[in-house]
Amino acid sequence: MNYHIKDIKLARDGLNRIEWAFREMPVLCMIKERFDKEKPLKGIKIGCCLHVTTETANLMLVLKSGGAEVSLCASNPLSTQDDVAAALVKYFKIPVFAIKGENTSVYYSHINSVLNIQPNITMDDGADLVSTLHSSQKYKDIIKNVIGGTEETTTGVIRLKSMAEHNVLKYPIIAVNDAKTKHMFDNKYGTGQSTIDGILRATNILLAGKKFVVCGYGQCGKGVAMRAKGMGAEVIVCEVDPVKALEAVMDGYRVMNLDEAAKIGDVFVTVTGNINVIDVRHFLKMKDSAIVANSGHFNVEINIEKLKQIAVRTRRIKPFVEEFTLKNNKRIYILAEGRLVNLASAEGHPSMVMDMSFSNQALCVEYLVKSYESGKLREKLENKVYPVPKEIDNKVAELKLKSMGVKIDKLTKQQIKYLSSWEMGT
Ligand code: ADE
Repeated sequence: MNYHIKDIKLARDGLNRIEWAFREMPVLCMIKERFDKEKPLKGIKIGCCLHVTTETANLMLVLKSGGAEVSLCASNPLSTQDDVAAALVKYFKIPVFAIKGENTSVYYSHINSVLNIQPNITMDDGADLVSTLHSSQKYKDIIKNVIGGTEETTTGVIRLKSMAEHNVLKYPIIAVNDAKTKHMFDNKYGTGQSTIDGILRATNILLAGKKFVVCGYGQCGKGVAMRAKGMGAEVIVCEVDPVKALEAVMDGYRVMNLDEAAKIGDVFVTVTGNINVIDVRHFLKMKDSAIVANSGHFNVEINIEKLKQIAVRTRRIKPFVEEFTLKNNKRIYILAEGRLVNLASAEGHPSMVMDMSFSNQALCVEYLVKSYESGKLREKLENKVYPVPKEIDNKVAELKLKSMGVKIDKLTKQQIKYLSSWEMGT
């Protein structure tokens, strides 16, 4: 292939950034060293649908070191880092089907291209790859080659569990999202920092003194609220779950329903995984100049279609900032078209947390392959969604601590015995 000089520069930038990210991914680095020697994934084809970032690039390289043939497409039309895609193709000969800003039909044609490699394992972030594979008869032969899959995110796990409950899932999936070393760190610290990063890169507003409304107080919402508070914003939490709402109160936030918060908020962020969380009635109550962003997986949390209908004027202010003027002359600013703001206008979660998420991914793929090769896969796993094996979760935590030079205590024999006894302690 002939490369244009601009493509060469793009790919070179991508390569530099991939290497930069790897410095902050010590656990993945240790796994890579072992995979280089042991080649546990030899002969395995992995179809991946993930955000195309520097961290994902490093995961692809680790899987390749393990002997796998990998193929990658985007898991969101706006999250691709084009320089990373170029570098993976040019320097590592890894097929990548992704362009930042691709439209929906291109997005799905890219998923199709990944499925065409006839993967033995699917690695998904949001379950678009798996649901596409299950959606049409034209994939009936391809699906037979798949031994199992992994899923990266909360939204994907929910969709896949629904597929399993409806008996349509055709192979087992490991819910990487549900590993402690994933959601307790990636969802909280990753989403927390990268969401603020995305909002600031898009708008450059001062957060100190702003009323910052967080819709949803799961792990992601907790992280966003914590970091907004850390930057001096007055944080308001909106929740539907009474226990989570109570937790937010006790964590020191104001909690109210969104109809009330809509009237006073300066910045709104949705992290719920649900549809039309911010709807017309909320837009109509907002102050002039309210900024609205989403950090949940799909672009459904803000009802932008309805906002377009009630707007008398719209204009693009700058990349990732769109202005909607309403009849009452108030302006509402939507960031990143309501798509994941942290990946669209920033670079996604920092490498340091993706290190743990993607180490879980690599080790779960190895687990699926080893189980398959030993003939035990079908004994162990049905066509359902499974948690990450505890040993893998603990291993990732151990290796992360090791890489940080942190030593922890061990239980004594007496303590182990004490914990397993039921008699009254002396
Ligand atoms: N999801 C959130 N942040 C990410 C990143 N940096 N890379 C891949 N997937 C992500």
